[in-house]
Amino acid sequence: MNTFQNSNVLITGGLGFIGSNLARKLTNLGANVTLVDSLIPSYGGNLFNVADFLGKFNVNVCDVRDPFAMAYLIQDKDYLFNLAGQTSHMDSMSDPQTDLDINATAQLSILEACRKTNPKIKIVFASTRQIYGKPDYLPVNENHPIRPVDVNGINKLAGEWYHLLYNNVYGIKACALRLTNTYGPGMRVKDARQTFLGIWVRLLLEGKPIKVFGDGLQLRDFNFVDDCVDALLLAGASNEANGKVFNLGSSEVIDLKDLAKLMVGLGHGGTYELVPFPPERKAIDIGDYYSDFGLIQKELGWAPKVKLTEGLKKTMDFYFAHKEHYWNDLA
Ligand SMILES: NC(=O)c1ccc[n+]([C@@H]2O[C@H](COP(=O)([O-])OP(=O)(O)OC[C@H]3O[C@@H](n4cnc5c(N)ncnc54)[C@H](O)[C@@H]3O)[C@@H](O)[C@H]2O)c1
Repeated sequence: MNTFQNSNVLITGGLGFIGSNLARKLTNLGANVTLVDSLIPSYGGNLFNVADFLGKFNVNVCDVRDPFAMAYLIQDKDYLFNLAGQTSHMDSMSDPQTDLDINATAQLSILEACRKTNPKIKIVFASTRQIYGKPDYLPVNENHPIRPVDVNGINKLAGEWYHLLYNNVYGIKACALRLTNTYGPGMRVKDARQTFLGIWVRLLLEGKPIKVFGDGLQLRDFNFVDDCVDALLLAGASNEANGKVFNLGSSEVIDLKDLAKLMVGLGHGGTYELVPFPPERKAIDIGDYYSDFGLIQKELGWAPKVKLTEGLKKTMDFYFAHKEHYWNDLA
């Protein structure tokens, strides 16, 4: 991790959930960190995510769709952690063009900026397990067929492959991590735009029942954000990672009903109820999913460390203490 000391690092989506946690860690490792974020209200960016270390890094409120701003910001950086994205699967279906513009077109123009102004940069791209679609087998490894079930999955796949292509054709060091459901302090909990877990946290703390769709038997794996940040840093520091994609995941697999029970039992009260799947969600649901993360374990030595109960407790305690920053009218 000494690799990052005194290095110049750009994080797109840096005021968002994972980006802000990554920024905190990189700042502590001695990196000169610049964050880029558009702070579009319906997305995950929130200034409170960085309130505890404001002044220790640069913040640029701009849009990754602006090629001139991005070329300027990229030119002197050693590392780019490319995390900015439209993350809502439902929004990608109701407004596919915006998803395309951010998750694919802007990614291409960021890579063009790297090629033209700073081909020595190292890039880590935050991809998603959503690109696999409905699994043929479990756990899902990197060789599983790619069959996105929504517009977001297609555009994230394009974004991922632009990175690999620029690595393979132009030698711009880039790799991608296919993140599974990630949770922790700083995630968007106002609504279900980022993850269903977010809205569950809010409802539990408001004393309202959380809604589990269908029979609640859908299997999932989850990573606490600190583990995800460690994986991003390992991928950033390793030349072995260049040109590759790695799944993140967890061997603690749980169905959604048991997850709801677990969250209700964490000390902040609440209840859960099973409700029929809303048809628009059922249409893009992937059924059971959990990852085989053996490749990153073998090649980069990553494995998740934070147990689900411990991570969820930290998350609930964080929002209990800071809820006014995440779902009042200004958040
Ligand atoms: N959290 C998860 O479970 C998960 C799972 C799979 C993949 N990912 C990927 O990880 C990345 C980070 O996700 P996150 O969970 O931190 O979400 P997030 O919404 O908190 O972070 C994304 C950030 O990007 C910013 N952003 C969006 N469009 C932008 C634009 N046009 N210009 C500048 N900034 C823009 C948002 O304001 C937000 O702060 C995303 O690319 C997402 O697709 C996350």
